[in-house]
Amino acid sequence: MTELELIIDLHKNSERQGPGSEKETLKALEVMSLPNDRKLKVADIGCGSGGQTITLAQNINGQITAIDLFPEFLDELNDKSEKLGLKEKIKTLEKSMDDLPFNNENFDIIWSEGAIYNVGFENGIKKWKDYLKVGGYLAVSEITWLTNSRPKDIEDFWTQEYPEIDIASNKIKVLENNGYSLVGYFYLRQDSWIENYYKPMEARFENFLERNNNSELAKKVVEENNAEIELHRKYKEYYSYGFYIARKN
Ligand SMILES: C[S@@+](CC[C@H](N)C(=O)[O-])C[C@H]1O[C@@H](n2cnc3c(N)ncnc32)[C@H](O)[C@@H]1O
Repeated sequence: MTELELIIDLHKNSERQGPGSEKETLKALEVMSLPNDRKLKVADIGCGSGGQTITLAQNINGQITAIDLFPEFLDELNDKSEKLGLKEKIKTLEKSMDDLPFNNENFDIIWSEGAIYNVGFENGIKKWKDYLKVGGYLAVSEITWLTNSRPKDIEDFWTQEYPEIDIASNKIKVLENNGYSLVGYFYLRQDSWIENYYKPMEARFENFLERNNNSELAKKVVEENNAEIELHRKYKEYYSYGFYIARKN
């Protein structure tokens, strides 16, 4: 297996592929004033196995297109939505988020939890804006500094991983400069990282290594994730995922 295949293998059969929670998905949804006289069209971009997609389908009157690059995650989402009787509300689409086949002004809501970094925040919000109706909502979570300065260790780690990491006020400025008005911001609580993401991942390490014959590459994947978890334990006060909810002007 390649490293990418191993990463997918590690994240398979898990509730979520990134930090988040049902409570916070609902919190982001609550700040939107949504019309209730018609069915809404929603895109969930980088949906993974659909932790948040299911919550959206259960709480929005409308149709959700859930997009991810990897069929492994979409298959899991399809199984879940079938079991929950949500098959009619959730359609999956295997596509890259930088090459989406949508018409302009097609969606009432574009949702993306922990995934826009794959194309970059500014690039993503610019590209996806075309697909949103005027007055439609964008809800994205994105790694964000919580303080204006921080220890060098953690600054270096995240700047190297994702150079666009910034404080919320600068991210909000990027939204405003690109034709959105902010309607809400909060950042994910620590439980959403630790209880919902890191602990379940740690619990999968042993089986993951076993089924991949303790290969050097599989060990490397575990080591890298362990290093990230360790840094989070040490520096969690300095960063989180910011949840940005904005409206297209
Ligand atoms: C950190 S995970 C977040 C998944 C999910 N939203 C959640 O919060 O559990 C990022 C997701 O983006 C997907 N992804 C990565 N690159 C992508 C791309 N170019 N187009 C679409 N999805 C992509 C990954 O497969 C993964 O499911």
